[in-house]
Amino acid sequence: MLSPSHPLPRPSGPQIAVIICSGRQPRVGDQVTSFVHSTIQSAFPTANLTTIDLLAWDLPMYNEASIPCEVHDPTHYTQAHTRAWSAEISKYQGFVFVSPQYNWGYPAILKNAIDYLYNEWKGKAAMVVSYGGHGGGKAAVQLKSVLEGVRMRVVETMPALSLKTKAILATAAVGGVLPLKGDGALWGESEKGEVEKAFGGLLKLLEPGEEKKGP
Ligand SMILES: Cc1cc2nc3c(=O)[nH]c(=O)nc-3n(C[C@H](O)[C@H](O)[C@H](O)COP(=O)(O)O)c2cc1C
Repeated sequence: MLSPSHPLPRPSGPQIAVIICSGRQPRVGDQVTSFVHSTIQSAFPTANLTTIDLLAWDLPMYNEASIPCEVHDPTHYTQAHTRAWSAEISKYQGFVFVSPQYNWGYPAILKNAIDYLYNEWKGKAAMVVSYGGHGGGKAAVQLKSVLEGVRMRVVETMPALSLKTKAILATAAVGGVLPLKGDGALWGESEKGEVEKAFGGLLKLLEPGEEKKGP
């Protein structure tokens, strides 16, 4: 039990959103994101993390009558959902995208969510964690390119979490419970170390002065 002299560390510093990038039902994206979230929080107890679930946002396919990079005042968005999404993304200085690989790319729901905005993303720091049969590295490369297109600064280290076996892939396909805890856990110190390294890179990008070195 924690004594009063050892209070729980309080979140501080930049606000960082951890985004569940799968909108499939069923899915394992929520479990994978939870693994990433808890790995970061254990290694960086004061990290100020909030989860964003694209499935819960349920954004329609892009339907604004403007090119987002030309919108500098969110009241000019014509759709209420765009104004709400803009307000949400404006809260954060950094983002952790936890994305599956679909057919060598990342999910359409994520591209749609990115495309809605531009100036809300611009200049901010991002880190990509992918997952898939071989870790989803092809999706990560594409996502990094698109994030740089909206002028985000993306950490070079991109952890790729492998759904290692046919049995695990079959479990994931139906949104089953992944073996993420205890003996024989799917991911161990190596994967956690990569996530921690990438998050260290994200914090570095968030240090004062670093924002001027963006793409
Ligand atoms: C449409 C679709 C395409 C997929 N394509 C790939 C792929 O290219 N490479 C891969 O490793 N896994 C692929 N998979 C397997 C996914 O990585 C796996 O199903 C994972 O659970 C998807 O994440 P989610 O459950 O959070 O949506 C694909 C799955 C779906 C549904």
